[in-house]
Amino acid sequence: LSTWNAQGNVLPTETVPKLPPRFYGGLMQVPIVAPPATPAHSRGESFQNAAGDWIEQRIDGLLGEMTIREKLGQLTQIFSGDAAKDWDAVRAGIRRGEVGAFIWALQDPVLRDQLQREAVENSRLGIPILFGMDIIHGARTVFPIGLGLACAFSPELFEETQKVAAVECRRMGIDWIFAPMCDLARDPRWGRVAESCGEDPYLGALCSAAQVRGLQWTKNRRRSQAACLKHFVGYSEVVGGRDYNESDVGDWVLLNQHLPAFHAGIEEEALTVMSSFNTVDGIPMAANARLLTEVLRDRWKFTGFVVSDWHAVGGLVDWGCARDRAEAARLALRAGNDMDMISGCFLSTLEEEVSAGRVALEEVDQAVRRVLRIKLRIGLFDSPYIRGAKEIPLRRRRVALARRCVAESVVLLTNHGVLPLSRDVSRIALIGPFADDPHEMLGCWAEWGRPEDVVTLAAGLRGALSENVILDVVKGCGANPLAPPLRNGNGGEALEGELRNGFLEAISAASAAELVIMAIGENRSWTGESGSRAELGLTGAQQELFDAVAELGKPMVSIVFSGRPLSLPKVWEKSGAVLYAWQPGIQAGAGIADVLFGDRPPSGRLCMSVLQNIGQTPLYYNHSRTGRPGEGQLREGRLEQAAFWFGHGLTYTSFRYGPVRIADGAGPGAPSVAVAEIENTGPRAGVETVQLYIRQTSCHEGVRPQQELRGFRKIALDPGEKREVAFVLDGKVLGYRSRSGAWKVDAGDYLVWIAPRALAGEPARYFHLA
Ligand code: BGC
Repeated sequence: LSTWNAQGNVLPTETVPKLPPRFYGGLMQVPIVAPPATPAHSRGESFQNAAGDWIEQRIDGLLGEMTIREKLGQLTQIFSGDAAKDWDAVRAGIRRGEVGAFIWALQDPVLRDQLQREAVENSRLGIPILFGMDIIHGARTVFPIGLGLACAFSPELFEETQKVAAVECRRMGIDWIFAPMCDLARDPRWGRVAESCGEDPYLGALCSAAQVRGLQWTKNRRRSQAACLKHFVGYSEVVGGRDYNESDVGDWVLLNQHLPAFHAGIEEEALTVMSSFNTVDGIPMAANARLLTEVLRDRWKFTGFVVSDWHAVGGLVDWGCARDRAEAARLALRAGNDMDMISGCFLSTLEEEVSAGRVALEEVDQAVRRVLRIKLRIGLFDSPYIRGAKEIPLRRRRVALARRCVAESVVLLTNHGVLPLSRDVSRIALIGPFADDPHEMLGCWAEWGRPEDVVTLAAGLRGALSENVILDVVKGCGANPLAPPLRNGNGGEALEGELRNGFLEAISAASAAELVIMAIGENRSWTGESGSRAELGLTGAQQELFDAVAELGKPMVSIVFSGRPLSLPKVWEKSGAVLYAWQPGIQAGAGIADVLFGDRPPSGRLCMSVLQNIGQTPLYYNHSRTGRPGEGQLREGRLEQAAFWFGHGLTYTSFRYGPVRIADGAGPGAPSVAVAEIENTGPRAGVETVQLYIRQTSCHEGVRPQQELRGFRKIALDPGEKREVAFVLDGKVLGYRSRSGAWKVDAGDYLVWIAPRALAGEPARYFHLA
């Protein structure tokens, strides 16, 4: 083993990989293959197709040779943006074995390979570097943000998009992708709801598993990539929606609301996890051994590695949790973080901590082992380079997928007969700051998205209309009130002048038009990380613009672009139809136009409730019942009633839901099923997202939500067509996580709904025998 070196992939000939039925500490499944007669490398096979024991032996060999400094190097991730300030120093550090991973924001595969070469050929042990990157909703092919795509209620679509992202990342030399974002989003003030899959743990878990499948789709091949489940955990509960804050979240809610999406990702064999910025019950997650070790490792048997979030190890000092960087490193390592993202605390302090006996070498070794295991697992030692790819091409099939994603993720909130649009129209006014701004369409995490790839709404409409139709496109105002005065450098006056002219132009275009389309929303820089807001309205002067145009009384469709479910009562009230389009990505205009003209049926459903106003925050459909149902602060009825609940979304036709029946399952001992007949009673073909909700009427362990989504099916029906939709009422559907963390299914009474959205329809009663 000691002669082994990654450069040549020299495998000891005496090593014939053992073939355990399970690989990767019992968590990762690998195909069982016959024992190879010759070493893996000589048959062109990768390490990950060999046995886990064999990987562990490789690691043992390396650990035996590594100095403490080299070990800490493996636990150190640096940022390419910082590194760019002094490449020579960074190269020297790599040669010394002090860089385990990069956050690689640069689209420079040649430089990436050069740095990798330093590690593989010029460092003592030749351990390759892991290049990680935040590609959350697409690399070059930018798809809708998570909050949008989750509204498609289609894990398959999610999987496809992440597969594309993985392929594009691979071309840029990205081995490790910081997705999926698994935080459950219940507070629209928090900017990062944009990246999430909304407020439902069941949908969130399906989407997270699907994303892992997509990102790690090459996992059994010679060379693969690692996904990263983030942010573990409770980050979305930050108090007041204020980013990076404390979270006061108890175990019951963690177990049943926040952990399921992570657990689903682990079950899907996600290779890495990122610990989050927030505290849980007073302990910053970067130091939270209970969750990082007891839950993640001991209970879930996760054997990949944990990376702390950006500077979160150093942040322990800022929290006032650690006295200094050394204590921060100690706490973070001991809690279960294996790699330190950019704070440098591990590298700069742990050597001394180990020699002073405050940290055991075994603790360091354990973290190094986990990091090396993933590097080996993905075949990085075998093929550390990407060799030559210069850029990511835009491919027709990927673009078509992006267009489909947009069409399936937009949610038709209201429609008073204005949509679908007729093409037989003479003049349309498209008004608003989101009408023709390609940057805004890319969304909050499109690091590698290119504005020139974007089909804006203006371009999408032009593409869908004949040349005879006049399309006037007017911005009207900016979306960010801070931008004009800052840009012009002369205070509010310029803003006012700009506004007056913009408004006049908008009103004159609207007056001349037969139909007005408003493209409004919130500026993308006010969403995503650090994008918390204290308002849920339109940003800048858009509300005034909207009001002025609405005064004209023209037929009006409002398209809302946002990273959160905005509360826009005036828009809902005054528009003929409202479509929430989120941040749709490069095919924004094309996909929206498909839906506007009815070329594709609207089928998106809210994955996060839309509130009437910010005072209701947080409000989600799956909250607990209270001990005094129907009482409490119901003045004006506004506090408890969302404007549009989770699962809501209109179509261009209407569906009748028959009563829910409970029927025997197929065959003896089979679980019962809930069945309802769905009929398309409207004039058009449509796609209906049929949803199954349950409520356990009494539970000794804790209060279960008033309703929980536990299944859905998208069905296409022609006018007059009916179909029975059945859901099996098995333990998976009825159960919950008990306080011990085990899945539990209680005997007793359940209410079962089959409905078009949350909190709608009449339930059937079902008694479940244990
Ligand atoms: C974010 C993570 C991200 C990381 C690396 C942090 O600030 O919270 O989501 O993966 O930066 O860019």
